[in-house]
Amino acid sequence: MNTILVALALISAFLSNSVVQAEPRYPVILVPGDGGSQLFVKLNKTSSKHFWCEKKTSGYTNIWVNIEELAAPMIYCFVDNMVLVYDNKTRKTRCPDGVDITTMGFGDTASVEWLDPSWLSHEISSVSYFYHIVEDLVSVGYKRNVSVRGAPFDFRKAPNEMGQYYKDLQKLIEDTYELNNRTKCVVIGHSMGNPVFLYFLNHQPQAWKDQYIQSFISLSGVWAGAVKTLRLFSSGDSLGVLTFWPNTVRPAQRAMPSTAFLMPNERFWGPDEAIIVTEHRNYTVKDYKDFFNDINFLDGWEMRQDTQDLIRDITPPGVRMYCVHGSDLPTPGTLVFGPGEFPDTFPKNIPDNGDGTVNMRSLLACTDWKGKQKYPVDHTVLPKAEHMEIVADLRARKYVVQVALGQL
Ligand SMILES: *[C@@H]1O[C@H](CO)[C@@H](O)[C@H](O)[C@H]1NC(C)=O
Ligand SMILES: *[C@@H]1O[C@H](CO)[C@@H](O)[C@H](O)[C@H]1NC(C)=O
Ligand SMILES: *[C@@H]1O[C@H](CO)[C@@H](O)[C@H](O)[C@H]1NC(C)=O
Ligand SMILES: *[C@@H]1O[C@H](CO)[C@@H](O)[C@H](O)[C@H]1NC(C)=O
Ligand SMILES: *[C@@H]1O[C@H](CO)[C@@H](O)[C@H](O)[C@H]1NC(C)=O
Repeated sequence: MNTILVALALISAFLSNSVVQAEPRYPVILVPGDGGSQLFVKLNKTSSKHFWCEKKTSGYTNIWVNIEELAAPMIYCFVDNMVLVYDNKTRKTRCPDGVDITTMGFGDTASVEWLDPSWLSHEISSVSYFYHIVEDLVSVGYKRNVSVRGAPFDFRKAPNEMGQYYKDLQKLIEDTYELNNRTKCVVIGHSMGNPVFLYFLNHQPQAWKDQYIQSFISLSGVWAGAVKTLRLFSSGDSLGVLTFWPNTVRPAQRAMPSTAFLMPNERFWGPDEAIIVTEHRNYTVKDYKDFFNDINFLDGWEMRQDTQDLIRDITPPGVRMYCVHGSDLPTPGTLVFGPGEFPDTFPKNIPDNGDGTVNMRSLLACTDWKGKQKYPVDHTVLPKAEHMEIVADLRARKYVVQVALGQL
């Protein structure tokens, strides 16, 4: 009994000693991934495909994530509202008539800490997101909405349609710098949040980056795409954040330019490397046009053309970089469809190394920046850290706190 108490006392002494600083060093900005921001919907529709779906709401209600909405038959209403309509003249997407979807609480952490705002138990792993990282920062003196802040975005879109977001993000970083006694910010991206933030940095003057950005921590960066995205187009799938996207949501998934943005980058996959194998033919990264034609989704090809060059060259960010990701987990490498299965049947796959979602070569793309920019690039591999789970991984959390406190 006494031994246990002594041990507990020692452990708690160790834990309190390990928190060497009770002052935030650098303010932190969180840039979430695909599916990693709460979304809210306002409806004013004149008709609905299904009689049980609401046509009007008095204000905004949460649509992503709303666990109840993801069960049949409400899932059909969800899909009708989440789907984007592509306009091949403006080369932009829009919501269907009478549907307005937005993020809320920009700058606050709430909408990136938990995905379902109504969920009572915020520790349920499938709906908690940046919560653990925020809690860790708060425990060393950070304040939510002041020195740790969230930058949610409509993850259905790719950077070519995120002009307003980038203006808001720039202002958020500048405001956070001022609010924290003119201290540079540490930006933490997860998954797709990393290419989204890289695009932003690639379009900021170096002087601005020198003034406002202390460093960029990328967790599970999808720098060069992932084979798994192709499955979202063919049979339907989940990418990273949520594991309960059912197949009925394929129309909404397909219509997301962000999915086209995250297809495997031609510079990282060979022209002879089959990434999709079917009965009649195989597809490589050179065959995307045929692929979209064969799955009868030509808007997808338009969206791919709109997004493929946004970060094609993976240009160095021009800021101090901490690139962190997992490894050694089976990750879709080649999608294999049996006879008659393409495209609607969920395919088998030949696994590749990666974090379960993103292929290793894409996670590793950040290492090319070493020596190509004036700031250092640190690279940390956390074996078996799964793509999504990394935000709750103790090794990643400790690392993030150390960088934020200026200890690394
Ligand atoms: C709802 O849409 C109708 C047209 O269909 C329009 O007249 C009305 O002003 C809209 N209501 C709101 C609250 O936007
Ligand atoms: C653009 O969309 C219209 C309507 O769906 C279609 O008729 C037309 O062929 C498309 N044009 C191109 C260049 O894809
Ligand atoms: C942060 O902002 C949210 C609203 O988005 C609010 O609910 C929450 O209480 C705020 N947190 C703090 C610590 O002020
Ligand atoms: C603000 O920064 C200045 C210069 O770095 C420092 O001297 C001062 O103590 C800081 N004030 C607070 C409240 O942290
Ligand atoms: C497709 O790729 C598989 C595996 O690499 C190979 O065995 C097969 O011969 C290829 N099929 C065609 C039609 O090229």
